[in-house]
Amino acid sequence: TKRIVILVSGNGSNAQAIIDQCEQGKINGEVVAVVSNKASAFALKRAQAHHIEAVCIPHQDFVSREAFDAFLLHKVQEFRPDLVVLAGFMRILSPAFVDALSTKLLNIHPSLLPKYPGLNTHQRAIENGDTEHGSSVHFVTAELDGGPVVLQSKVAIHPHDTAQTLAQRLAQTEWQIYPRVVEWFCDGRLVFDGKHLSFDGSEVPIGGVN
Ligand code: GAR
Repeated sequence: TKRIVILVSGNGSNAQAIIDQCEQGKINGEVVAVVSNKASAFALKRAQAHHIEAVCIPHQDFVSREAFDAFLLHKVQEFRPDLVVLAGFMRILSPAFVDALSTKLLNIHPSLLPKYPGLNTHQRAIENGDTEHGSSVHFVTAELDGGPVVLQSKVAIHPHDTAQTLAQRLAQTEWQIYPRVVEWFCDGRLVFDGKHLSFDGSEVPIGGVN
């Protein structure tokens, strides 16, 4: 059973999907901690409800990003994770943090990467007149939202969509794809060596497993 630490900043619906599938035995893993940079994150309550250790590390208590990241890394390492999952964690992580965990650090980003790295992805897709949108599960590298994509979900953009309606529709697809990728990682099917990504022993093409 793999040890999973989830980093969050908010609601935690993706964390919930992963916790549920671990508890149901669909993922060969156990969520051993949920760590938030925000005390108000509902994700911490979700963790407590499942008797999972809930840790808050307020980033504003630190003098610099590097100081926060160093403390966060130390805290995360204390849980001896096999996998670290970013699930709505809304802080950019410094290279020192990413390098220390790079073969076992996953993120979900709400766009069809390489489109729309960064923030406000739903609004940007609508304003560009895109007809489809999606989310990408990827390994994290030092480049922002730039690591190799494992799996993407897609939804149609409807004529009357707002950023909010689109985000809600997309969220449901995230709860499908993120637990799948975590399952593959925990089963040893998905391996990232920091440069190359492979699935069942074959290199994964750019754009992910399909
Ligand atoms: C998710 O939609 C995720 O894709 C996005 O935040 C949401 C978190 O929802 N992540 C980012 O924007 C990362 N830059 P959740 O807290 O309910 O899982």
